[in-house]
Amino acid sequence: MKKINISLGKRSYKIIISSDRFNDICSFLPLRPGDNAMIITNQTLSPMYLNKFISLMKKSKIEVDYITIADGEQYKTLETINYIIGILLKRSHDRNTTLISFGGGVIGDITGFVAAIYQRGVRFIQIPTTLLAQVDASVGGKTGVNHMLGKNMIGAFHQPISVIIDTNFLLSLPPREFSSGLAEVIKYGIILDASFFQWIEKNIDLLMALNKDTISYCISKCCELKADIVSNDEYDFGRRSILNLGHTFGHAIEAHMGYGSWLHGEAISVGIVMAIRTSERLGQFNTKDINRIINLLQRAKLPIYGPVEMMSKDYLPYMIRDKKVISGKLKLILPSSIGVAEVKNNIPYELVLDVINKCQNIC
Ligand SMILES: NC(=O)c1ccc[n+]([C@@H]2O[C@H](COP(=O)([O-])OP(=O)(O)OC[C@H]3O[C@@H](n4cnc5c(N)ncnc54)[C@H](O)[C@@H]3O)[C@@H](O)[C@H]2O)c1
Ligand SMILES: [Zn+2]
Repeated sequence: MKKINISLGKRSYKIIISSDRFNDICSFLPLRPGDNAMIITNQTLSPMYLNKFISLMKKSKIEVDYITIADGEQYKTLETINYIIGILLKRSHDRNTTLISFGGGVIGDITGFVAAIYQRGVRFIQIPTTLLAQVDASVGGKTGVNHMLGKNMIGAFHQPISVIIDTNFLLSLPPREFSSGLAEVIKYGIILDASFFQWIEKNIDLLMALNKDTISYCISKCCELKADIVSNDEYDFGRRSILNLGHTFGHAIEAHMGYGSWLHGEAISVGIVMAIRTSERLGQFNTKDINRIINLLQRAKLPIYGPVEMMSKDYLPYMIRDKKVISGKLKLILPSSIGVAEVKNNIPYELVLDVINKCQNIC
């Protein structure tokens, strides 16, 4: 078992990473006998894990309730938030109820946002069950939902009181979803840590084969890298924004294609390729490293071309609306080499459109 600290003064918390400890899950929860908890999960996870989770909670004398919502990015909406709040009110949950997010990043973002606004804020715990949520979405307190006009356009910063990761949940995860999580793993290597990138190159086959020790190391490493960034820039005014490598492009794909049609990590994979190609055009990234990145994304079974249905002009409205745009100028996270990335302002639209065009065809 490994513990990683997120250092945020009074809002500090621990990420606990273990394998095959579902039976002991209550010993990791920061809850005591008699406490109230509300599990929020979805229709896919519920038949697999919910009954057992509830019976373990009951054994530990925790007053447990649950809400199961429909599965999918297309339900990450204000309507779902309103639905959950309605149930919390009808069942008389007050500010002493702790919400427990049990699922992937969608459930985590939804639960966190409800926790941020329900009765002006309640406590919540993250139990992420996808690779993507275990290495990224469950850590750092970004919560929220999508709007038709843009991804994650409604939300709040609200830190969980604990993140509990069990790598065994990944055994039931569909391979396409596992690959989606690898996009964020590869992202960490590109923006922050050249030797971790090299480690992923060496270990990608073991990761894809769900080797337990390799996965545990990988998740711990990603959480450590994210913990360091979040602990120093909780509200994303500075360095935290480099975690958005590929996301300005990727969010455009997710929104334009209809939420849920492209997985988040798939869209980010293409976004990463578009970002490094932009760096290349600006003369700050070498071809050998571009090939290493593209090769690794492909070995992780991730897409490297944008959707054929999208023209370059389709990206721009979303990119202009994305959070990474300040005063109408296009701002992008661009790597200068593997392991180093920076925020670049004032990138000409024409250059970006040209790069997108090329990434539809000849990447
Ligand atoms: N808040 C953040 O900092 C942050 C960071 C990155 C991504 N995100 C968000 O996370 C979301 C993507 O998260 P995701 O990739 O986890 O998608 P997801 O939550 O949609 O989960 C993917 C699929 O896997 C299923 N699933 C989950 N765990 C499973 C398991 N153990 N076994 C079998 N099936 C399982 C889910 O039901 C779903 O169908 C996006 O909305 C993205 O914007 C948030
Ligand atoms: Zn992401």
